[in-house]
Amino acid sequence: MTSPLPETAAPRRAFAIISHPDAGKTTLTEKLLLYAGAIETAGSVKDRRGQRSTTSDWQEIEQKRGISISSTVLRFSYRNTEINLLDTPGHKDFSEDTYRVLSAVDSAIMVIDAAKGIEAQTLKLFEVSKQRGIPLLTFVNKCDRPGPGPLGILDEIEEKIGLLPTPVNWPVGLGTDFFGVVDRRDNTLVRFTRSEHGKTAAKEKLLDMEKGLDAAQEWGKIAREELDLLHELGQDLDTETFLAGVSTPVFFGSALWNFGIQHLLDAVVDLCPAPGPRNTQNGSTRQTDDCFSGFVFKIQANMDRNHRDHMAFVRVNSGVFQRGMTIFHEPSGKPLNTKYAQQLFGQGRGTIEKALPGDVIGLVNTTDLRIGDTVHTGDKVCFPPLPTFAPEHFMVAYNRDTTRYKQFKKGISQLDREGIVQVMRHPTRGDQAPILAAVGPLQFEVALHRLENEFGAPVELSPSRYKFARQTDEASAKILREIRDVDVLEKEDGSLFAVFDSNYVLNHTRENHPELVLREILT
Ligand code: G4P
Repeated sequence: MTSPLPETAAPRRAFAIISHPDAGKTTLTEKLLLYAGAIETAGSVKDRRGQRSTTSDWQEIEQKRGISISSTVLRFSYRNTEINLLDTPGHKDFSEDTYRVLSAVDSAIMVIDAAKGIEAQTLKLFEVSKQRGIPLLTFVNKCDRPGPGPLGILDEIEEKIGLLPTPVNWPVGLGTDFFGVVDRRDNTLVRFTRSEHGKTAAKEKLLDMEKGLDAAQEWGKIAREELDLLHELGQDLDTETFLAGVSTPVFFGSALWNFGIQHLLDAVVDLCPAPGPRNTQNGSTRQTDDCFSGFVFKIQANMDRNHRDHMAFVRVNSGVFQRGMTIFHEPSGKPLNTKYAQQLFGQGRGTIEKALPGDVIGLVNTTDLRIGDTVHTGDKVCFPPLPTFAPEHFMVAYNRDTTRYKQFKKGISQLDREGIVQVMRHPTRGDQAPILAAVGPLQFEVALHRLENEFGAPVELSPSRYKFARQTDEASAKILREIRDVDVLEKEDGSLFAVFDSNYVLNHTRENHPELVLREILT
């Protein structure tokens, strides 16, 4: 059974922006909206960011730290294309969350600060994107500031991330002398003039490349040499390797001053792939015009004080979603009501009537849903589960107020469901002292804050002796439980983890028992 996509439907693009905090993700997002005509003057996204703390309890941390933890979705139209831009947390401690968002998009833009290059902290996020294998565009931001120069950035991309950089445009002049960019595809030079505080589109003058480089004098000479070098190296845009996640088209510009934004936005439509077929767990492929299907990539409760509810973010993979239709939850097989399905825009939301592959819908109060679950109509389908990352930090949580035990238990379970931290239980200490496991320590900060402020459960976290966790199965767990210094912990969903307090114990266990399942999760 198929549900052909309406012929009149606009094409879709679903992409994310990943960057180091402060590299300019928020500014770039805003400028993409400005150039797409979704907002008239820059400033509104930041305003929205400002509002977050008033509409949500725990996003105060985002404000304090200047990072985003709660992923949101922005939807806008450009050149007859419906674009879904999914926000990612800008910190390596939330790499797992970033990975989940990246599973819901078909491409991403990696933002690099021209003055700072690729910062160590961000490397993990970029590696995660590479692991996902999705096509990556690169935007080298802040070219209006002095920096090591564009060739140095290209080297870094190649050396540190292992992607072949293929510059699409090339900067002429740096810092305050930033003159414009050469479009290597058609040998034109776009000369920019700053608009007042970058609030409206920058004035652009299209010049013939040779004439433009002459006009840029010394900077023109430098750019000419660099362009010749690139030509010799053959680092030219190559769609095939870009789509295969091997090369990355690079754009230079300045989000603040709106330089190079138009090139980048056009690339989202012209280069980034449309939603395509998706592999299912049994190895078959779900085509976009099959019956409706999608999967949950994020769960978030209490996004808004006024809506104390539970939202599952679903990426549509195939077919047409119509509000009110009955869809089925895999693995439980239970039907779900979609009367209250939502569309998200930043922190705002509204009713959604229809959604197509590449779109995101918010299902409200569907508490059975977990991250990675499939929803569908028609024949049963199941998309591969989203991997969890190997936790590197472990804490034991104690309820500090015995009268609040119920809230403590509920809060811990909710955080586990949302993937804020992984919650593991010791066979004897169980729910009294659950072990919180995280990829990065900032996750604990979010967990503590939410438990206290949202669930009214004051909690004490004390460091656990565990250092490593490996996923195992029941048969191996039986043997592992007998080994000194090894514990087996259980998650609410029944999965089992062997935990070790040193690399030595882990290696020793492996050597002595090569038959045991000790699955290394993504690191
Ligand atoms: P993020 O979301 O990645 O954390 O970064 P965000 O956009 O908030 O930008 C971080 C800072 O960098 C901001 O300055 C922003 O104005 C500045 N910025 C962004 N793009 C450019 C650019 O192309 N050139 C220059 N020179 N600066 C840029 P701020 O002082 O922290 O905030 P604000 O007071 O400007 O809002």
